[in-house]
Amino acid sequence: MKVLLTGCAGFIGFHTSQRLLASGVEVVGFDNFNPYYDATLKERRAEQLQEHSGFQLVRGNLVNPEELDSAFDLLGSGDDTRVCHLAAQAGVRHSIEHPEDFVRDNLVGFSEVIERCRRREVGGLVYASTSSVYGNQSEPLLHEELRTDGQVSLYGMTKKANELQAGVYHDLYGLRCTGLRFFTVYGPWGRPDMALFLFTDAILSSRPIKVFGHGQMQRDFTYVEDIAAGVTAALETNLANEVINLGRGNTQELMRYIELVETELGQEAEKEFLPMQPGDVVRTSADISKARRLLDYDPQTDIDAGIPAFVAWYRSYYDR
Ligand SMILES: NC(=O)c1ccc[n+]([C@@H]2O[C@H](COP(=O)([O-])OP(=O)(O)OC[C@H]3O[C@@H](n4cnc5c(N)ncnc54)[C@H](O)[C@@H]3O)[C@@H](O)[C@H]2O)c1
Repeated sequence: MKVLLTGCAGFIGFHTSQRLLASGVEVVGFDNFNPYYDATLKERRAEQLQEHSGFQLVRGNLVNPEELDSAFDLLGSGDDTRVCHLAAQAGVRHSIEHPEDFVRDNLVGFSEVIERCRRREVGGLVYASTSSVYGNQSEPLLHEELRTDGQVSLYGMTKKANELQAGVYHDLYGLRCTGLRFFTVYGPWGRPDMALFLFTDAILSSRPIKVFGHGQMQRDFTYVEDIAAGVTAALETNLANEVINLGRGNTQELMRYIELVETELGQEAEKEFLPMQPGDVVRTSADISKARRLLDYDPQTDIDAGIPAFVAWYRSYYDR
């Protein structure tokens, strides 16, 4: 198997690339190192990938045809080739202020990628979707059969559109497609715009942390190594046309998550309780039985181990 992995300098792309390279898979990484968050962090991740002889980096933008073509040229075609499409504009909150970024990167960018998969006869496409596509559901457990045709954020809408487009490409052209709905991923080398990073930074700077939803939110926090294992399994299994949840399957209170950060830092956070942000949801809780059945997915890490791993990385990386 040879993989073209978009978003290789991103949080999940970096961990997934590491895992693939460690098992001897050749990876062509593609990323534009955009400044949505500190690009130095992306450079540091990419530097580590470049230490592997099986890794080739193409710097480019999904919506630049020549740049994307050069990455596909390095991948080649045939049954053993895969595209792992993780590059996207993420962040529900960012989508409220900058919808145009989501239309460009997530709708146009995705179309550019999937169309090349078809034209160049790539063996299969695995792409990132999100738990955000579920919006606010009354069901306690989010399973793949629930209706997701009403979206509450532009971010979720773009990812749902990707799932629909992948279904059409499978039915019309026979392209093998697996969409993975990730649930709140966290861990070392994480994203500076996400809660865990923001909390850790604020607590260490003795600034108050913003707790949205008045502290009532619950999330199925998923450790990044478990996600990387699930993505790798999806690339290997290469299912015909599926959308699959990848979560921990163990929903936690946001306040418990914060408590663990406080314990690790040995410092109590000053908390500013705020209402829910528009486009956000109160609770996510993944039914991961489909991933267990089809991908042999078996997540291992709970927040009791995952948060200390993140905090240890953060303190050593930033020397704080
Ligand atoms: N982290 C999570 O909790 C989470 C949850 C659900 C879904 N996802 C999805 O998983 C994927 C990876 O997320 P992440 O957390 O690693 O985000 P990330 O922002 O760290 O990684 C995305 C990478 O894609 C690159 N990129 C974005 N637009 C690009 C473009 N037009 N051309 C080339 N490169 C581009 C960015 O530079 C970045 O390095 C995304 O599709 C995201 O929507 C993430």
